[in-house]
Amino acid sequence: MGPTDSPHTDLAAISGLTLEEKASLGSGASFWRTKAVGDIPDVVVSDGPHGLRKQEEKGDHLGMGGSLPATCFPPAAGLGQTWDTDLVHRVGEALGDECQAAGVHVLLGPGVNIKRSPLGGRSFEYYSEDPLISGSMGAAWINGIQSRGVGASLKHFALNNQEDDRMRSSSDVDPRPMREIYLRAFERAVRDSQPWTVMCSYNRVNGVLVSQNAFLLAEVLVGEWDYEGLVVSDWGAVADRPASTGAGLDLQMPADGGLSDAAVVDAVKAGELDEAAVDRAAARVAGLAARAHAAARPDATFDVDAHHELAREAAARSIVLLRNDAVDGAPLLPLAGTGSIAVVGEQARTPRFQGGGSSHVNPTRLDVPLDEVVAAAPGAQVTFAAGWAASMEPDQALVDEAVAAASAADVCVLFLGLTDGIESEGYDRTDLSLPADQLALLAAVTAAQPRTVVVLTHGSVVDVAPLAGVPAILDAALLGQGGGKAIADVLLGAVNPSGRLTETVPLRLADTPAYLCFPGEHSHVRYGEGLFVGMRWYDAREMEVAFPFGHGLSYTTFRTEGLSLAADDAGLTATVTVTNTGDRAGREVVQAYVGLPGSAYQRAVRTLGGFASVDLEAGASATVEIRIENRDLEVWDPRVDHFVLEPGAYSVWVGASSRDLPLEGSVELAGETVLLPLTLESTLKEVLADPVAGAGITDALPFAKGMAESGNDDASLGADMAEMMGAIPVGRLLGFAPGSDPAAVKQGLVDLLEKANAAH
Ligand code: BGC
Repeated sequence: MGPTDSPHTDLAAISGLTLEEKASLGSGASFWRTKAVGDIPDVVVSDGPHGLRKQEEKGDHLGMGGSLPATCFPPAAGLGQTWDTDLVHRVGEALGDECQAAGVHVLLGPGVNIKRSPLGGRSFEYYSEDPLISGSMGAAWINGIQSRGVGASLKHFALNNQEDDRMRSSSDVDPRPMREIYLRAFERAVRDSQPWTVMCSYNRVNGVLVSQNAFLLAEVLVGEWDYEGLVVSDWGAVADRPASTGAGLDLQMPADGGLSDAAVVDAVKAGELDEAAVDRAAARVAGLAARAHAAARPDATFDVDAHHELAREAAARSIVLLRNDAVDGAPLLPLAGTGSIAVVGEQARTPRFQGGGSSHVNPTRLDVPLDEVVAAAPGAQVTFAAGWAASMEPDQALVDEAVAAASAADVCVLFLGLTDGIESEGYDRTDLSLPADQLALLAAVTAAQPRTVVVLTHGSVVDVAPLAGVPAILDAALLGQGGGKAIADVLLGAVNPSGRLTETVPLRLADTPAYLCFPGEHSHVRYGEGLFVGMRWYDAREMEVAFPFGHGLSYTTFRTEGLSLAADDAGLTATVTVTNTGDRAGREVVQAYVGLPGSAYQRAVRTLGGFASVDLEAGASATVEIRIENRDLEVWDPRVDHFVLEPGAYSVWVGASSRDLPLEGSVELAGETVLLPLTLESTLKEVLADPVAGAGITDALPFAKGMAESGNDDASLGADMAEMMGAIPVGRLLGFAPGSDPAAVKQGLVDLLEKANAAH
């Protein structure tokens, strides 16, 4: 698709405008509004992503003050753990309805950046270390909100994987990890959901600011992915508006008092910027305004109660049961029937339910875990002790009080977690530890009460080594305003947990893939781990982890069996039978991983190829199909600059996590053989592998005869010599070639290679 032939590029709307008017369309009127010019109305945007953060425009020029109440759904760190794209779609719909009711045309989300390091300060706003999860969740969210006539803003495009020096740092990355890991989630979201807007990130990529990166904004996004919408800057990401406009950026946000509009006009007049680029940008803003106003429903309202219920449902589905060991002969959870419960930890009464920064939502309601446990366990005696102070100052009196409460009760539910100051937009973490005062509390409480359940709150992984002796752990990530009830329901068994990790929990920070190159230095961060991000790293290096990607337990058990595989033109379908072998209803998330042993490309041992889930009553069975698309198996081949489905026998593993894969099968995919042009620098082995050149090489180069004969049992050329000679470029073999006319031999070789190339 060309830059201006998208259906949402409204060239007609700008045809009567002056250059100045067109330029002015390309920057904001305020923090949250585009300009109205001529007949083109303004567009209202707001953060995002896990709730609407609509601010009063007058009172807040930095965009960070209070906002109107809105439903706070689980941030992506929680929502991703649902592995449930239908649910994410419904959350998107609800967000769309809230935007309609508030007169907001575009909600600034979702964020689909990859969690490269758990230290990334904004990890709570992102779904996963894995591109398939991130892209699928992002596309579902966008399709949901846009189905309600409200635009999304897919962000932060691209390679914005840390907060440190985020406005200047260059993410220095090789083509394969760029394409196969970091761009892949964006590509899926663009292709599968066509967001109305894409937000360019602050950082540089391979030295070039993304806001003026023609490769990313024009060549890849529009040229390769057929993107039809508008590219907006992150707030303050533009350093040189004419350069950005020329590179493919359409809208600079927020307002800058017209400074950059004037720079654009001057650049056009000076012949430094093609006016066609200004037209494209203005026409895309006009196109966005047209569709925003066509879909707007000024009388819209939304059902606060229903959205709160949806927030609770999403929160409950986000919770991962990390561990549930037996104590006194039975798994500690659920707690139904327990006589007395000590609830310990400040976050039980002052929940942390979202991260800090621009995504901070003012919730319509807030479920408090302590109150919800009391309500969910009417027959139980529930006591509370804060255990640690919000100030994070160690307080022995609080610890003593908590120990007394824990030891007096039948069971202790201990709330531990990262605090607001630790995880936020704008800066990264420096370690994975829980705060020291909480660790001291943990040691004291578990020594006093072996029947302790830990509820962990965090936006990215924490060091779980101190939890080694804790029999039951709920990973409550960040759950939004319905998290309190969701936690209580899972603790008491009203909800059977079914969330799955979207991020590997390592044994220690030093094990993490980007450990030696995060966050870089002097405004450069080298993505030295390459393709080996998240589970790809731990699996390739055969490392133990605390909890693997995809892990999550249930109060029931499942048996998955009978794998069959069927390939078609676009991918393959894995079919299994899942049986609920326990005594209560539950949901199983079935995961399929794919690898290609013996690949000619460097590859992960296996990657997530697809997933599906099924709800089953106790004893029930169902057939589950998991779709695996070829596009997720392709590798980016930098020699030919495109994705390639390598031919071969792919291994497919199916199971309950990336390290619990009882079923294995294999399927042959025809794929595409990359035929590179043969040159004199091609090795003898490469030439022999070519059907035409291989057949003619012994005539062109008699010397190669021994190589060509199967088994290489030519007396003059043993297998070792054959291997050695095979690695030599054929042009260089000429020096070894006998014969009286070297020029003729060389010409014969050149002719043969040309003939082979012509047949490609
Ligand atoms: C954030 C964006 C956000 C924007 C507007 C930026 O600092 O990176 O995610 O949408 O501000 O608040």
